[in-house]
Amino acid sequence: MNATRNTTPAEIFDWRDDYALGHAAMDETHREFVACVDALLRAEDAALALALAAFEVHARRHFAEEDLAMQQSAYGSAGCHIDEHAAILRSLDEVNASLQQGHVHVVRAFGQALADWFPEHARVMDMGLARWLTQRRLGGSPVLICPRALVAAA
Ligand SMILES: [Fe+2]
Ligand SMILES: [Fe+2]
Repeated sequence: MNATRNTTPAEIFDWRDDYALGHAAMDETHREFVACVDALLRAEDAALALALAAFEVHARRHFAEEDLAMQQSAYGSAGCHIDEHAAILRSLDEVNASLQQGHVHVVRAFGQALADWFPEHARVMDMGLARWLTQRRLGGSPVLICPRALVAAA
């Protein structure tokens, strides 16, 4: 019998082509996000702390890069997007505290919540940013994006 008992069966979170935004750097970061969350979902209890720490390193860089790109490009829909990143990082702090108390089920629920959260965030908020950055570079018209609302700016 395995000495390391899992609290739940491993879940799987795979990259899907419809997560792609057409912005190479963001897509590379998002592939890494999916890999980190997948590793978190699959980790045995004894490996959860390491997987969560790896996710944290990724998430802080991932969100900081997007936040900086929004601020530096004066992106019109930055507020709600930055707020959503910050909410994930606040949750992460709480999950870290829960894991310190040995509550591995909280980490597993967080991993699943991330897998559920990402597709819509990428489809709406990150796609909006990717289009803005691409169109800005190419001199096109921006598209402003907020949750569940798409408004053409031009
Ligand atoms: Fe992102
Ligand atoms: Fe984002």
